[in-house]
Amino acid sequence: MPDMETLISLCKRRGFIFPGSEIYGGLANSWDYGPLGVELKNNIKKAWWRHFVQMRDDVVGIDAALIMNPRVWEASGHVGHFSDPLVEDIKTHERYRADHLLEEAGIDVTGMVLEDMAQAIKERGIKSPKGNPLTEPRAFNMMFRTHLGPVENAENVVYLRPETAQAMFVDFKNVQQTSRKKLPFGIAQIGKAFRNEITPGNFIFRTREFEQMEIEYFCRESEWEIHFEKWLVAMREWLKFLGLKDWYEHEIEEADRAHYSKRTIDIEYDYPFGKKELYGLAYRGSFDLDNHMRASGEDLSFLDQEKNEKIVPHVIEPTWGVDRTVLVTLLAAYREEEAPTGEEGESDKRVVLALPKDLAPFKIAVLPLSKKEELSTIAKPLVAQLRSRWMVDYDETQSIGKRYRRQDEIGTPFCVTVDFDSLEDKKVTVRDRDTMQQERIAIEELESYIDTNMRAA
Ligand code: GAP
Repeated sequence: MPDMETLISLCKRRGFIFPGSEIYGGLANSWDYGPLGVELKNNIKKAWWRHFVQMRDDVVGIDAALIMNPRVWEASGHVGHFSDPLVEDIKTHERYRADHLLEEAGIDVTGMVLEDMAQAIKERGIKSPKGNPLTEPRAFNMMFRTHLGPVENAENVVYLRPETAQAMFVDFKNVQQTSRKKLPFGIAQIGKAFRNEITPGNFIFRTREFEQMEIEYFCRESEWEIHFEKWLVAMREWLKFLGLKDWYEHEIEEADRAHYSKRTIDIEYDYPFGKKELYGLAYRGSFDLDNHMRASGEDLSFLDQEKNEKIVPHVIEPTWGVDRTVLVTLLAAYREEEAPTGEEGESDKRVVLALPKDLAPFKIAVLPLSKKEELSTIAKPLVAQLRSRWMVDYDETQSIGKRYRRQDEIGTPFCVTVDFDSLEDKKVTVRDRDTMQQERIAIEELESYIDTNMRAA
């Protein structure tokens, strides 16, 4: 696995991800996805949708408004309780998460409330990272507030959503009635969420603006354990698809679980900065639907017509962060390795992003051996043909060895070289990113060759 500096530098150099608003000095760990990053991120979202919505009969999608009625966030508990414990360095006024400082000092924060943290800070003499005393911890609400319309008063306060999940509860009735789904079934959504994190950091791991892919899966109370297990298996399959070999399934202890949850698992990953959360799987009972029914006065129960029975469904919530998925996919794919043949005069070392082929930003790079017109008259129409199916890069500069290395570094599965023999035999050389093996393929068979290899992947 690369260290973070190496990965961040590759991401910037090759146009995956760079600092947001960089020409103005950036903005507190905000990041922009560049031309290759947006392809990778879109491919992840497309694969997720295909996997969890398109291929299943029991999940349907929505795309809800980002700004919801503020009563949603009162009912969900976010206005009252969506907070992190904040402490301040009394000299520099820099702010930190109290639980993070305690954990860094080797203190187990399981089940700790603000008072426990205050006591632990006092007893253990915990200081700020600058070595100064800290204020007492206080709850800091992480929702971003703004005003709807031109008047900035208390009645117009709204929030940027801190999770995509609540829309699936609020829209439950509309979705169930229009899709005519019966229990068990799920509602999926991909979209942005905003949290005013006290200490964003570690590249795209913790940011204040990020994307989530979430499913609320509605079932009968008596069946929650079966569906929890099934979703755990589905999440494992997804992790394998991303190319991950290791992750940790951390059963959250009762003291740290939400009071309505009988089981929660954090899927954790060993990042270069330590073992931390990647995804989550939670049993939420009927907590959210109950709250929204109480607050809105609407009936959000499900009518089982066969049994003539009204049920408030219980919910299993698998949740995936998009940006953390991008991060672990890049970390798992990165290799520095020997290229024993010293390909085409290049050095014996190469950096390769062995991304799952489905996720690679470019699937193919077409590389005419030289800039000569005879070659581009073959290469350019070939690119146009392939582009109707896949993202294709075209590069005719520098030595072929250097171009192979460039494509390896961005994870392009197939390099297609057009050379002077192509003029005679109407064939091209296809080089495989992972094996570096080269094969001579007839131009008219290239599309089906790529197709077969993509499908196999
Ligand atoms: N609806 C449940 C929910 O939002 P969460 O654990 O707070 O649960 C779900 O968030 C996922 O969203 C996390 O597992 C993580 O992948 C991602 N996530 C949360 N906060 C994030 C942040 N500040 N930056 C990037 N990703 C974040």
